[in-house]
Amino acid sequence: MSTSLTIPTDDQGRGSITCIGLGMTLGSHLTPLARSHIEQADVVFMGVSNSIVEQWLQRMHKDVRSLQPYYGEGKPRSETYREWVDLMMTEVRAGKKVCGAFYGHPGIFAWSPHKVIEVARAEGYDAHMEPGISAEDCLYADLGVDPGSHGCQHFEVNQLVFFKRRLDPTAYLVLWQVAMIANESISKTDASAAYRELLVDRLSRDYPLDHEVIVYRAATLPIERPRIRRVPLSDLATMPMTAEETVVVPPAEALQRDEEFIRRMEALHELQAKRGTA
Ligand SMILES: C[S@@+](CC[C@H](N)C(=O)[O-])C[C@H]1O[C@@H](n2cnc3c(N)ncnc32)[C@H](O)[C@@H]1O
Repeated sequence: MSTSLTIPTDDQGRGSITCIGLGMTLGSHLTPLARSHIEQADVVFMGVSNSIVEQWLQRMHKDVRSLQPYYGEGKPRSETYREWVDLMMTEVRAGKKVCGAFYGHPGIFAWSPHKVIEVARAEGYDAHMEPGISAEDCLYADLGVDPGSHGCQHFEVNQLVFFKRRLDPTAYLVLWQVAMIANESISKTDASAAYRELLVDRLSRDYPLDHEVIVYRAATLPIERPRIRRVPLSDLATMPMTAEETVVVPPAEALQRDEEFIRRMEALHELQAKRGTA
């Protein structure tokens, strides 16, 4: 039985772009709708650096083009991401139905999918983003974290070392791209340790150095298990880390009651109760 859904389109023969998420774990996270966008596209661009994923996509579509060769050692990633947008838009402008396939969720810590949709819409083309299961979704499941229990802050790591940001140590903190700190390019060697020392310094303003943090890697193959390493904050600089890891800092302080607002809320409750009985 085919799982393919027919995606309605208004404009046959006119270019369009859909950015879909492949999810984190090969094959098992792909939604039926995302699969249909892949199958019904004229061309599929693939923003994933994994040859197994590429082969799997090629079984779904005969024209899969990898975006990976546009990375270069020493080349700014921002330049690569602009090139990706140009490549996809060239096909949209040529009247093709284009699918951009990105791992995880295509709109989470990913510049090109948002940009290509913005550019396509500005030029009058149909453009759509189809969500996927992100590293964030996996970490909630694997680490047993409910963002609703204490609140949850997400930052791309460079936001903490380049800007004055306020952290709330009563909530969870999720740090993305930690191994890429201060690295505008891509590099085969992990040179981030010295810069991660700066990150530890910054975090030590809000968290004790012995506070336990989690270095998390979601499974990317169905045969893998998630990798969960718990270390004191002070070790975050020196431990080996890959680009496929996210750092989770659990709350370090208890929530403080806001007595003023509690009093005001109680006064409102009383007023409502009186109105209800009047
Ligand atoms: C450019 S962002 C892409 C995120 C992706 N769009 C998503 O939805 O998860 C790359 C960052 O995602 C996180 N990441 C990527 N692969 C991961 C994995 N297997 N487990 C945990 N985090 C991962 C890391 O923080 C990494 O630096």
